[in-house]
Amino acid sequence: MIGPVILVVGARPNFMKIAPIYAELEKRKINQILLHTGQHYDDNMSKIFFDDLGMPQPDIYLGIGSGSHAYQTAKVMVEFEKVCQEHKPSMVVVVGDVNSTVACSMVCAKERIPCAHVEAGLRSFDRDMPEEINRLVTDAIADYLLTPSPDGDDNLRNEGVSENRIVRVGNVMIDSLFNNIDKSKTSLIHQDLNVTIGEYGVLTLHRPSNVDDKTAFIQIISALEKIGERITIVFPLHPRTKNRAEEFGLTERLEQIPNIVITGPAGYLDFISLMAGAKLILTDSGGLQEESTALGIPCLTLRENTERPVTVTEGTNTIVGNNTEVIINAAMDVLDTGGKSGRIPELWDGKTALRIADLIERIIE
Ligand code: UD1
Repeated sequence: MIGPVILVVGARPNFMKIAPIYAELEKRKINQILLHTGQHYDDNMSKIFFDDLGMPQPDIYLGIGSGSHAYQTAKVMVEFEKVCQEHKPSMVVVVGDVNSTVACSMVCAKERIPCAHVEAGLRSFDRDMPEEINRLVTDAIADYLLTPSPDGDDNLRNEGVSENRIVRVGNVMIDSLFNNIDKSKTSLIHQDLNVTIGEYGVLTLHRPSNVDDKTAFIQIISALEKIGERITIVFPLHPRTKNRAEEFGLTERLEQIPNIVITGPAGYLDFISLMAGAKLILTDSGGLQEESTALGIPCLTLRENTERPVTVTEGTNTIVGNNTEVIINAAMDVLDTGGKSGRIPELWDGKTALRIADLIERIIE
């Protein structure tokens, strides 16, 4: 008998990438195990996404929790190795670039279990980002590198990866977005937050380079103080950002930004409803750059670089960094002109999970 396919999720941005793959494998009656490492564990960072995305409770929960990078990575490895030895999977699917992704791919490499990395090949070329290290290591050792866009293929080729490991499948996160956008119209988030569709910006912030560095954090807040004079800003606060604001004594200043609506982390349906109704998105997230491109909403990325360049060359994204004046000017330009309209990149068509499932079937045959 062939062993199960293990699908790994660990942190918030993984859930919307695995959900469509899980659903497609269920349809095809492929024996699968949904494994959650527990890197993210709060209900509003984890459980609500399973509910919103229609995923069942994970079959296996490792309960890793928070800790340093080494702690999280090592603990996932120790626990995931036991799971692999017990369940003897025919293959493992990891997604994205979080610590759980790299940890599980390393276990597979040593246990000689075929491993597919979904969202392979993305590079920011910035090794100060922990995710860049995770991407480099995962792509060096995973057997099948499933890329979302041609730049991913090029990056892998430039690193000497052989052609037969690279498969361009498209962007699976966009499957989730398209599958749920109609359902998200029932969300009451606009009423709950008392904001008007088309008349607010959405802000998310959690990258260590922006919120663990007090100077950078203050530069961004200073820009928001100006932007808030023009438009309401909805800000679902990530736990890291909340903790750092408290540590740096910046909570009160954040709360006093004109027209800011600070809320807890939003669920998936509420969040895509918020994005779809926004005039502007300000973010340092990777996923939001892609989702705003797919939705046609202008996005200003508060980072110096992006591992998702097609969102800039084809989509609605503009890289602005964290300099106060640059952010203000870019935001005012979007508010004055409507910003970039862009187009949806090739294979961001809502059918990526089908292509991934076809590949999985071929591998486990
Ligand atoms: C992780 C990922 C990042 C991803 C982000 C999305 C890595 C290296 N980083 O960063 O790529 O964009 O998730 O959120 O894997 N916390 C809670 N509740 C939770 C989870 C975390 O309060 O459910 C707290 C932790 O105690 C910690 C902080 O949030 O202090 C950060 O969590 P952590 O998992 O270390 O990294 P993220 O910044 O979320």
